[in-house]
Amino acid sequence: ITVDWDAVTAEKGGYEHFMLKEIHEQPKAYRDTMRGRINAEGNKVILPELNMTEEQIKNIRNIQVVACGTAYNAGVVGRTMIESLVRIPVENDIASEYRYRSPIVTPETLVIVVSQSGETADTLAALREAQANGAHVLAITNVVGSSIAREANDVLVTLAGPEIAVASTKAYTSQLVAFGLFALYLAEVRGTQTEGQVAKILAAMQALPEQVEEILAQKEAIKGYAEQISEHKNLFFIGRGVDYAVAQEGSLKLKEISYIHSEAYAAGELKHGTLALIEEGVPVIALATQEAVLEKTVSNIKEVKARGADVLAITHQEHLTDLLRSVDQVFVIPKTLPMLTAALSVVPLQLLSYYASLALGHDVDKPRNLAKSVTVE
Ligand code: G6P
Repeated sequence: ITVDWDAVTAEKGGYEHFMLKEIHEQPKAYRDTMRGRINAEGNKVILPELNMTEEQIKNIRNIQVVACGTAYNAGVVGRTMIESLVRIPVENDIASEYRYRSPIVTPETLVIVVSQSGETADTLAALREAQANGAHVLAITNVVGSSIAREANDVLVTLAGPEIAVASTKAYTSQLVAFGLFALYLAEVRGTQTEGQVAKILAAMQALPEQVEEILAQKEAIKGYAEQISEHKNLFFIGRGVDYAVAQEGSLKLKEISYIHSEAYAAGELKHGTLALIEEGVPVIALATQEAVLEKTVSNIKEVKARGADVLAITHQEHLTDLLRSVDQVFVIPKTLPMLTAALSVVPLQLLSYYASLALGHDVDKPRNLAKSVTVE
């Protein structure tokens, strides 16, 4: 008997590609990133690894989140978490812009750099620029011994495990968890949330792994939709708030590995330009999970629908009645707190880009022109 075996196949653990394996590892990555960081009562975040003193935390006046690519997109969600829980103003910056824009930094500025690899040249340069200007730098990274982890003043490690596929999946979602934990930690120290509120958010975070499993169990539905869109040259992602942030990540993922052109738009901004590109049959993926702006998103969906768009909505069960008449297809995700929806709604979008890439016969794990870690400028 001959057995076909090689080290790479073994590492893929039965999955056809690293990306698919890593998508399926997200429940574990969530659990590992939270493990040991929540107290037994479930109402407090414990981060003993941080050097920042209580006084330093109380003195933070503004936060700048700096990163590249998918890590940048995670930071956009992180901003919502911090601003809503702690009410500290947060700015998001692309590292290659930040390093050359003379950022305004004071000793009361906290700079958070986000990097899966911890080696991205622009992010490392941004970290140095921030430190040179006197900022305290916290790194959220997946690699403990990386350059960024070594140079930062504080490190919050994501425990996603090694990520091999160029398109980042479990690193992004673990970064969301890290932001959630850190935002709650800030809220505790600064007294902006009650123990009860913290407990509620932590319970919702701890439910995420099982909810991701529920989404993964429906991957065949996404596969069918991916095959449909793989015949298109252009498509659009729309959403508001956290949904817009996820739209940006969904669009990036699709471009990276399927090479289909897509744009992510803040749904309310469509009428200022992009609407001109909507014509008969153009696919629009509408993220509609945010209750507070649901009505507004529904009216934006109607605008694209009236111009012939073919709309897929990603939403919660309870919003179906509001949406059904205006969309062509729906994908339902489990209910969580509005602030945490990104951790779930991104999963169907990851699967969508995976299956679209597969349908088009591309090299899913190693897309053309892209590298896993960009260590040169
Ligand atoms: C490259 C990768 C992306 C990644 C980005 C930032 O472009 O292809 O997937 O998001 O770098 O990488 P980092 O390791 O800093 O998170």
